[in-house]
Amino acid sequence: MIEERANLAGRVAVIVGGGGGIGGGVTRALAQAGVDVAFCDIDEAAMAETEAAVSALGRGALSHAADATASDQLARFYAAVAARFERLDICVNVVGGVDRRDFMAGTAAQNAADIQRNYGYVIESVGHAVPLIRRGRRGGSIVNFTTIEAHRGAATFAVYAGAKAATTNFTRAVAVELAAEHIRCNCIAPDVTPSAGNWNALRPEDKARIEALPPELGGSGVRFYVPMKEQPPVEALADAVLFLGSDMARYITGTTLHVDGGTFAAAGFLDWPNGDGYVPAPLGGTTAKLFADDGGAVPASRPAGSIF
Ligand SMILES: NC(=O)c1ccc[n+]([C@@H]2O[C@H](COP(=O)([O-])OP(=O)(O)OC[C@H]3O[C@@H](n4cnc5c(N)ncnc54)[C@H](O)[C@@H]3O)[C@@H](O)[C@H]2O)c1
Repeated sequence: MIEERANLAGRVAVIVGGGGGIGGGVTRALAQAGVDVAFCDIDEAAMAETEAAVSALGRGALSHAADATASDQLARFYAAVAARFERLDICVNVVGGVDRRDFMAGTAAQNAADIQRNYGYVIESVGHAVPLIRRGRRGGSIVNFTTIEAHRGAATFAVYAGAKAATTNFTRAVAVELAAEHIRCNCIAPDVTPSAGNWNALRPEDKARIEALPPELGGSGVRFYVPMKEQPPVEALADAVLFLGSDMARYITGTTLHVDGGTFAAAGFLDWPNGDGYVPAPLGGTTAKLFADDGGAVPASRPAGSIF
C-alpha cells in the first residue's frame, strides 16, 4: 500500500554526490525503490561500489566522475543525463561540507570555495535539473542538503553556515516560483551522521582528542547531545529523501526536514549527567565534576540572582 502511494518505481533521479557517504545511501535507497539513478562524484572507488550495488538491483544507472563545484564538469554530467534519460523526476543535491576554522583564519579563496561547495553549485544544479524535469511534464521533486548549522550560530562554521542558510532560503524561494508546475523543492538538514565528511570536518586537534579517548567512552557524548541518544545513520537520511521524492509528499514544498535525532529541537539544551538533566549549562553535579580542579573557570562569587 505504501509503495503504491509513494509511486516511486519507474522514476528517474539525479544525485549530485551520490557515490558515497549520505549520497551513496540515497542512491542505493532510490534504486531499491525502483528508481533509475544518475549520479556524479569525485570519489571514483565509492562510485564504482555504488554502481555495482545499483546494477545488482536491476536498475538503470549512470555514474559520472565530476567535481560538482566545477561548473563545466557539472554541466557535462547533466548533458550525459539528458542524453541517457528522456526526463527527470527527482534531483538530490548532496555535495557539501566544511573544514572547521575560525572565521578570521580563513582566506578569501577558502571562503569562496566553501560558498561554491555549499551554495553556488546548488543553484547551478537546480538550473540544469528544472528543464529536464519540465521535459517529463509531470512535476518533480528537488531535495537540497542543508545542515543544522544553517539554523544556529555555529562558531567555526561561519562561512559554511551562511552558505547553507542561503541554500535553505534559495530552496524556499524557488519552491514558490515552481509550485504551479508541481516541481517541489525542499531541504534536509542532517546533524552528526557518521560519514567521511563528518569526520573530515573536525580540526586535527579535535580528531586527536577523540582518538585518545578510552574505547569505552567512544561516542558517549552522543548521550547528552542527541535527544534520541543515537547518531542518525545514513539510511535515515535516505528515507527522508525517499519521502520527499515520493507522491506521499506531493503537497510539501519549500520546507526543511530536520533528520537529526532531535538536536535542532533541543537547540542547545543538553542532557547532562550527574543528575543535572536537560539544561543548556550544567547546574550541579556536572559543574562540580567539570570545574572542581579548575578554580579559574568558576567565578569566586555568584552574581546576585544567577542560577549558575
Ligand atoms: N554527515 C553529517 O552529519 C552532516 C551534517 C550536516 C550536514 N550534512 C550535509 O549533508 C551532505 C552530505 O554529507 P556527507 O557527510 O555524506 O558528506 P561526504 O563528504 O561524505 O560526501 C558525500 C559524497 O559527496 C561526494 N563529494 C564530495 N565533494 C564532491 C564534489 N565536489 N563533487 C562531487 N562529489 C563530491 C563525496 O565523495 C561523497 O561520495 C552535505 O551537504 C553536508 O553538508 C551532513
